Amino acid sequence: MSKLPTHIPVIAIDGPSASGKGSVAELVAEALGFHYLDSGAIYRIVAYASKEQRIAWNQAEAIAALVSQLSIQFVHGEILLNGANISMLVRSEEMGRGASEVAVHPAVRNALLDLQKSFRKAPGLVGDGRDMASVVFPDAILKIFLTAGVEIRAQRRFEQLRNRGLDANYETILQDLQTRDLRDSQRSAAPLKQVQDALLLDTSDKTIQQAVDFVLDAYQECLNSYKKT
Ligand code: DC
Repeated sequence: MSKLPTHIPVIAIDGPSASGKGSVAELVAEALGFHYLDSGAIYRIVAYASKEQRIAWNQAEAIAALVSQLSIQFVHGEILLNGANISMLVRSEEMGRGASEVAVHPAVRNALLDLQKSFRKAPGLVGDGRDMASVVFPDAILKIFLTAGVEIRAQRRFEQLRNRGLDANYETILQDLQTRDLRDSQRSAAPLKQVQDALLLDTSDKTIQQAVDFVLDAYQECLNSYKKT
């Protein structure tokens, strides 16, 4: 029987915007008692901080320099930037767009690598984003590419915003998601893609619970395969 890898296990869940990967990743982490990294939130924080400092989202070097001065903390699910709670502010569609724009710059991505890696703590981590499996945690024990059709994602986002009592327009959301999908998957630095050893999880006709069960079963299979070999 081969031993389980000695390093702290990571489950990497990558996928496009509004695919539901955040909800799935959080529930998987809860079920396993693992830590959770919402890497998209980090890019959103950077977009927000840049705007606050009046730095345009295309200014790669200035944003990378700003990153080194930021104090980013996640406390009980809340996002603190330099001590201030900005959880709601970074969830806006504007900051989603900004995150996608600042994320194209290799200098910004490099400046955020150590922070993301620091979330890897015992007993394990579930990380969600675009490059969890390809760049940040290439040695993840389990890699999932979680996606859904773009119209379905737009409809889910639309309902989510409506339920929060926010103004929402389906067509605008759909267009925005298509633009972000294109930018996130066609950039040269760490583009969104399904890596070769990732399992595909299409949630178009799945509930969140079914998607969570898929990941938990796949994780259990990983552990079993270590025990068998
Ligand atoms: O997951 P999200 O929608 O909160 O992410 C917002 C943007 O941040 C996304 O459009 C691209 C960028 N991002 C990234 O480039 N790499 C990650 N690991 C996570 C997010």
